[in-house]
This record gives sequence, C-alpha cells and structure tokens, in this order.
Amino acid sequence: MHPLEQLRDDALAETESAGDEQSLEALRVKYLGRSGSISAWGEQMKALPKEEKPIVGKLLNEVRTAVTGAIESRAQRFRAEKESGALSKIDISLPGTAREIGALHPLTQMWERAIDIFRRMGFALADGPDIDDEWHCFDALNTPPEHPARNEQDTFYLPDGRLLRTHTSTVQIRTMQSAAPPIRVISPGAAYRRDELDATHSPQFHQIEGLYVDKDVSVADLKGTLEFFMRELFGAGTEVQFRPHFFPFTEPSLEVYVKSKALKGGERWIEVCGSGVVHPAVFEQVNKARGDEAYDPEKWSGFAFGLGMDRLAMILFDIPDIRLFSQNDLRFLRQFA
Ligand code: PHE
Repeated sequence: MHPLEQLRDDALAETESAGDEQSLEALRVKYLGRSGSISAWGEQMKALPKEEKPIVGKLLNEVRTAVTGAIESRAQRFRAEKESGALSKIDISLPGTAREIGALHPLTQMWERAIDIFRRMGFALADGPDIDDEWHCFDALNTPPEHPARNEQDTFYLPDGRLLRTHTSTVQIRTMQSAAPPIRVISPGAAYRRDELDATHSPQFHQIEGLYVDKDVSVADLKGTLEFFMRELFGAGTEVQFRPHFFPFTEPSLEVYVKSKALKGGERWIEVCGSGVVHPAVFEQVNKARGDEAYDPEKWSGFAFGLGMDRLAMILFDIPDIRLFSQNDLRFLRQFA
C-alpha cells in the first residue's frame, strides 16, 4: 500500500468517528491545512524521480478529493442535526404571543375625515407652531390690544412674551406671509385658552382653520363650502344655519350651526364653526409684513373659518364629555377601534 493510501484510510476513519464540528475542523487542519499532511505531500513530490511524479500526483489528487468530500459531508450532517434539533424544541401547536393592535384616536379619525372632504374641494394642508407670538395671534388678525382675548386671564403667555395660540387663525397669517394669492388651505391643530376643564371646555382643544383667497370670493362661496362639508360629514339631511357674529378679522362674520336628525340630539342647533369674509385690515397687515402689495384688498378677497374639531367629533360619535378625549381610558378608546 502506498503511504498516501494509508494516509487516506486514516483520514477517512478519523472523519467517520469525529464526534462534533470542532474535532472535524481539527481534522481538516491536520490533513488539508496549509501544513497538513496531505499538503505536505505536494512538497515531497518535487523530490520524486520524474517518471513517478504523474502517478503519485494523480494519487495525491484522488486522496485530497476523497478526504475533502468526506469531511464536507460529515460537516453537513452536523449542520442538519443541529437544525432539526433546534426545530424540535419549537412546539408549533402552542398559541402565539398575542400583540395588542392599536387604533386611531377618535379625534384623529375625525381629523382624517375632515381633511379628506376638504382635499376633494382642492384645499391643501398648511401648518404652524403651537407656540406663537402676539403679532400672529392678535395684531395681524386685526385684534386690538384692549381686546379681551388678549387678557392674561384668557391666554397662556410664556415668560418671553410668546403665547400658546388661542386659535389656529395664526396659520392664515403665516400662509399669506409665505405665499402669494390665490390661496386655498386648511390647517388642523391644537389651540389653547384658559378655560376651566369641564364637560364641554378644555384648555387645549382642536380646530381646523380654513383660508380661501382668490378673485371675487364672496359669502356665497363660504356658505357653499361649509354646507358641502357639513353634509359630507353628517349626512345629506343635515341642516346648516349661518348666524351673524363678530370676529375682528372677518367682516361679515358668521357662526355656523348644524342640526341633523341622523345625529343623537338631532333636534338641537349646535354651533360648530366661526367664519367670515377676510377683513381688508388683515390683508394690509400681511402686506406690511411681506413688504409688498401681494394681498391688495381691491384685487383679492377671501373667506376663513375655524371648525371646532372636538365639538364635531363629540356630535359625530355621540361623546358626552370632552375630557374623555384626553383621559386615555382604554374602555372609551376601544369603542372607536
Ligand atoms: N378663530 C376663530 C375662533 O377661534 C374662528 C374663526 C376662524 C372665525 C376664521 C372666523 C374666521 O373662534
């Protein structure tokens, strides 16, 4: 027997009896590694007489192939055993770990429905900060310093003079500052007032502001837009009523009431929105801030509105108390999942 054949038989026998992956790896190094015994034969070949070289070379190749194959198939068996061992520990008949699936808050659902309706009428979304300054909240909106809304008892002021916006109408101003007419935007967001927390008042509440500026915009456009919105939201049979009101930044100003038999308490008129035709003084303030005449009140007119989101959601979902929105009681929230 050629010593190479002996080497092969030893290697195959040892491979067969290797008990784990580590000892198999040791065998691979011992026989096939760079200074392993089979590799060493490659070196020794050089010293052989010329006529023996091809014979031994061929044998060496066969031995290397046989040993490599044996080690690889043994390694594969180890891997397969390991895998099936791991799988056998999994009991696929066990029930899984239940995961709670969240759902959208009723206010968020209200929000999305409202945005969807306005989107269809071509309104784009605008945004503004909750913390704003007096100019955006009052001065630019034609609200004089002596107006009660500016009172410390009504508004949250920060030590540096800024405030928590008392309405989303600040976004009207910010939008007009950054873009020339025509404008057609809505802006949903939070607003803040020093109200005592009770069933219908909360120091933080939510509004959707709307602003439409174009040529020849009139009260008729305002009424048509809001009537369409209310009927989309509450159903075709919804009655909408506009009552004269006063806001410093609109003239005329209108409060919007709805009544719908489809809703709980459907015999009552419920106030849901403040609105009006944009006051020319607001355009003048914006022009001054912009340093141009982009909002020339002779050329452009517009309407604006502020929808009370909490109120709308309370009507739509028949929710009796505004505090439920912020108490995070799952018994309440789950009803809207
Ligand atoms: N900002 C007013 C409020 O909070 C609502 C309003 C918005 C009125 C736009 C007219 C125009 O009561």
